[in-house]
Amino acid sequence: ESAALWGGRFAGGPADALAALSKSTQFDWRLAPYDIAGSKAHAKVLHRAGLLTDADLDAMLAGLDGLLADVLSGAFLPAEDDEDVHTALERGLLERLGAELGGRLRAGRSRNDQVATLFKSYLREHGRIIARLVLEQVNTLADQAEKHLGVAMPGRTHLQHAQPVLLSHHLLAHAWPLIRDLDRLADWDARVAADSPYGSGALAGSSLGLDPQYVATELGFTNSSANSIDGTASRDFVAEFAFVTAQVGIDLSRQAEEVIIWATKEFGFVELDDAFSTGSSIMPQKKNPDIAELARGKAGRLIGNLSGLLATLKAQPLAYNRDLQEDKEPVFDSIDTLEVLLPAFTGMIRTLRFNTERLEELAPQGFSLATDIAEWLVRQQVPFRVAHELAGACVQECEKRGIELWDLTDSDLAAISPLLTPDVRTVLTVEGSLASRNTRGGTSVDQVTHQLAELHARAAQY
Ligand code: ARG
Repeated sequence: ESAALWGGRFAGGPADALAALSKSTQFDWRLAPYDIAGSKAHAKVLHRAGLLTDADLDAMLAGLDGLLADVLSGAFLPAEDDEDVHTALERGLLERLGAELGGRLRAGRSRNDQVATLFKSYLREHGRIIARLVLEQVNTLADQAEKHLGVAMPGRTHLQHAQPVLLSHHLLAHAWPLIRDLDRLADWDARVAADSPYGSGALAGSSLGLDPQYVATELGFTNSSANSIDGTASRDFVAEFAFVTAQVGIDLSRQAEEVIIWATKEFGFVELDDAFSTGSSIMPQKKNPDIAELARGKAGRLIGNLSGLLATLKAQPLAYNRDLQEDKEPVFDSIDTLEVLLPAFTGMIRTLRFNTERLEELAPQGFSLATDIAEWLVRQQVPFRVAHELAGACVQECEKRGIELWDLTDSDLAAISPLLTPDVRTVLTVEGSLASRNTRGGTSVDQVTHQLAELHARAAQY
């Protein structure tokens, strides 16, 4: 006999092919503890509405607690013909409490408001777990920045040498996007917290006088849904969560790409720790940045999960449609992906060794101090248009002769322009260039020190 929750008006059970298609326990079972929490809150609100006696409530809560323990221990599992997590748990409750009491819990709720609520609870918990892991990555970047404060490196645009920057400044540039991801998770959480769908029923609310705000509070929400149709049919909260996970993936992927490049022989900026790199089955010398490559690859997967989800949601009429059952697997996968990726990624960055000598040596290469000449001229009241021309002329002269900017003699400089007095030499060092970029957000040691403090203060909010 089928344990379906909707057998009453049907002559027989569902066709095997339908049951196979319909079934979701293989992926929604992870929601079981959240469903039971929802059931406990629902039992209390039924009691408050006079639909369960004190004794009924006690027995119901004890039954649900026992069921939860069995779910957590693995003693209770979905059966072959349980359609979904809700169906399986209903069966478990009936087995424990009997049909008379067990059969009372479903009053005034539907799987539609149930699933919308518990999915929110599940995502909120994993949002917190992901936030902790992201925060560890932020702190790891900050630690590396702190440890290497003062080390210069070539800053790039278009992957070409642009201007010298502090390695710390560069590392922190990867931390701020993650801080914004933490902000996004917190904003998302506050929005979701104010919108508990329990009490929305199938779509229209409940006639039983159950207080949705009481259930919301019981489940750690700040308010219940203002509209029962919206409460049961909206999944923008899932899409938004999937977006944040995709953005975290993209932010990691950008760091990953740099680690991959930096670890090449040609760059030689970093060495990966043995514990966080892999070898080759044929080439004995190899040390591969697999974590970084997996991060880059998994970013694609996270983006795919978001795109698939948005396509599922598009053009669904109100209210609940079974299409919505497709909302779970993509975001579960995104969560699993980040929860396995972030610890490895953080370990890789934490143990990364920087070749600071090489970074320092390359910092002024590629005429990266040319802008310093131009800005020095501007400080001597030369219009920037002229200054840019003259600095360009210096670069041209150096390229022609195969020398660096600081190799130009006083007379070389004077020959290019009398405006280029020997004093210009003061900015033709990496230290001078870095120190001169000393306003908020700049790459001077002072500013990066402030920046680190600011980052620590922001991170401390989480
Ligand atoms: N398992 C479904 C889901 O994940 C909930 C069941 C609602 N089913 C229904 N026929 N109203 O969305």
